[in-house]
Amino acid sequence: MVKICCIGAGYVGGPTMAVIALKCPKIEVAVVDISVSRIAAWNGDQLPIYEPGLEDVVTQCRGRNLFFSTDIEKHVAEADIVFVSVNTPTKTQGLGAGKAADLTYWESAARMIANVSNSNKIVVEKSTVPVKTAEAIEKILTHNSREIKYQILSNPEFLAEGTAIQDLFNPDRVLIGGRETPEGQKAIQALKDVYAHWVPEDRIITTNLWSAELSKLAANAFLAQRISSVNAMSALCEATGADVTQVSHAIGKDTRIGPRFLNSSVGFGGSCFQKDILNLVYICECNGLTEVANYWKQVIKVNDYQKNRFVNRIVSSMFNTVSGKKIAILGFAFKKDTGDTRETPAIDVCKGLLGDKAKLSIYDPQVTEDQIQRDLSMKKFDWDHPIHLQPMSPPASKQVNVVWDAYQAAKDAHGVCILTEWDEFKTLDYQKIFDNMRKPAYIFDGRNILDVEKLREIGFIVYSIGKPLDPWHKDTLAVA
Ligand SMILES: NC(=O)c1ccc[n+]([C@@H]2O[C@H](COP(=O)([O-])OP(=O)(O)OC[C@H]3O[C@@H](n4cnc5c(N)ncnc54)[C@H](O)[C@@H]3O)[C@@H](O)[C@H]2O)c1
Repeated sequence: MVKICCIGAGYVGGPTMAVIALKCPKIEVAVVDISVSRIAAWNGDQLPIYEPGLEDVVTQCRGRNLFFSTDIEKHVAEADIVFVSVNTPTKTQGLGAGKAADLTYWESAARMIANVSNSNKIVVEKSTVPVKTAEAIEKILTHNSREIKYQILSNPEFLAEGTAIQDLFNPDRVLIGGRETPEGQKAIQALKDVYAHWVPEDRIITTNLWSAELSKLAANAFLAQRISSVNAMSALCEATGADVTQVSHAIGKDTRIGPRFLNSSVGFGGSCFQKDILNLVYICECNGLTEVANYWKQVIKVNDYQKNRFVNRIVSSMFNTVSGKKIAILGFAFKKDTGDTRETPAIDVCKGLLGDKAKLSIYDPQVTEDQIQRDLSMKKFDWDHPIHLQPMSPPASKQVNVVWDAYQAAKDAHGVCILTEWDEFKTLDYQKIFDNMRKPAYIFDGRNILDVEKLREIGFIVYSIGKPLDPWHKDTLAVA
C-alpha cells in the first residue's frame, strides 16, 4: 500500500489530503502538524476550518485511510510520498523583510524529513514557495541523507477557499514539476498516478521544477491583477458617472477577457495574493528586473488604495468624523463561504475606522469574536506563523463589539458596511434595519451585492463601490 504523509494540516493540507484519501481508498494518508489543537479539531466534530463539503469528505475516510496526527516523525518515516504544506509567510525581519518568503517552517520540515527517513522518498512542495526552493530543499536533504534518495517535486495547489472541495474534485489543472532526469520523471509518474484516480490525464500538466514553482506565483499575480484592474476602474466610474458593474459586464463579454474575476470590491484578501506578489516582486528585484518588480508592486498599491478610499468615503460622508459613532460591519471573512480572515480587507477597513475613533459592531456568520479581536490587534504578517494557532485570549478592544446577528449589529448604528459578500446579507430586511438606525442612515456596500435603488427608496444614503454616486457623496470629498 502506498503511504502518503502531509506535513501541515491547514487550509491546503487538510482538504487536499482528505480528497486524495477519498478518491484513492488504497492509499493511506496521514496528515501531521505541530499544532496539537489543530490536529485535535481535525479528529473531532468541529473541523478547524470551514469549507462547504469538507466535513462530508472527512467523515467518509477518517479512521479508514485518512489519519490526523501529531506523531510527525513516525508518519514521515513510514511514507513513500511526503507532501509539505506548511506556512511560507512574508519575512518580517532581516534581508528581504516585508517581501521575501520566510522559509523557516519549510526548512525545519526538510531537516526533520532528512533526520527521520530510512527509505527513499518523494518530497512534494505543496506550499507556495519562491522559484528555486526545490534546489535548497534538495541540498538540505542530500547533505543530511544516509544513502537515502530523494526526489523533489513541485505540485502547487490552485484551490480557492470557499470552493476548495469542488476545486479539488474537478481541478482546472494539476501541475507537477520535477527534474528532467529518469529518476525525476519516475517520481512525476508516481504522483501522476495518484491524481489519475480522478483527474483526467489531459488536465495533469508536467513541467520542469522552476516552471511549476513560478506558475503558482504567476497565477496568483494574474488573478490579483485582474481584481486591482477592475478596482482601479471603479474609482474612475465613480468620478465619471459610469457604473462598474455595467463596464465589467461589457468587457467580460469579450472572449479574450472573459467574465470571471471582474467584480469590483473593497479589495482582495486571503492568505496568498499579497504574500505571493510580494514574493514575486522580491524575486524580480533579486534578478535586477526593477521595472517588472514595479509593475507587480502596483497591484498591491491599488489594493491598498481601494481599502483607504472606502474608509475615506465613510468618514467624509459622515461630516468628516466617525468619532464615537457606531458603525455596523457585516462580514469579516475575506470572502463568502469561508471563515478565513487572513489579510481580509475588513482588517484594514476596521483599523481605519478605529483610527478615527469609531465604535464597531461586527457580525460575520463564520468568524468568532476571538479571531476578530486577534486580527485587529495583530501586526501585519504576524498571522502566518503557527504560534497564532495556539489558543490565547487577545486583548479585547473597547471600541469593538462582536455580535451574532446582523440586526443587532446595525441597531442604533449610523452606518452599515458590507465587507463580505455572504448571501444572507442580500436578503436582510433593510427596512427593519433602517428603522432601527440613527439618521441619516448610511450603507456602504463594499461588495456590490445590494439593490441600490431599493435602499435609496427606503431612505438610506447609499455608497456602492464603482456605482454612480448618491448626491450626498458627490458633495463630500473622499481622497485616498
Ligand atoms: N490557503 C490557500 O488558499 C492556499 C492555496 C494554495 C496554496 N497555499 C499555500 O499553501 C501553504 C500552506 O497554506 P495554508 O493556507 O494551508 O496554511 P495554514 O497556516 O492553514 O497551515 C499550515 C500548517 O502548517 C503547520 N506547520 C508549520 N510548520 C510545521 C512543521 N515544521 N511541522 C508540522 N507542521 C507545521 C502549521 O501548524 C499549520 O497548521 C502556504 O505556502 C500557502 O501559500 C494556500
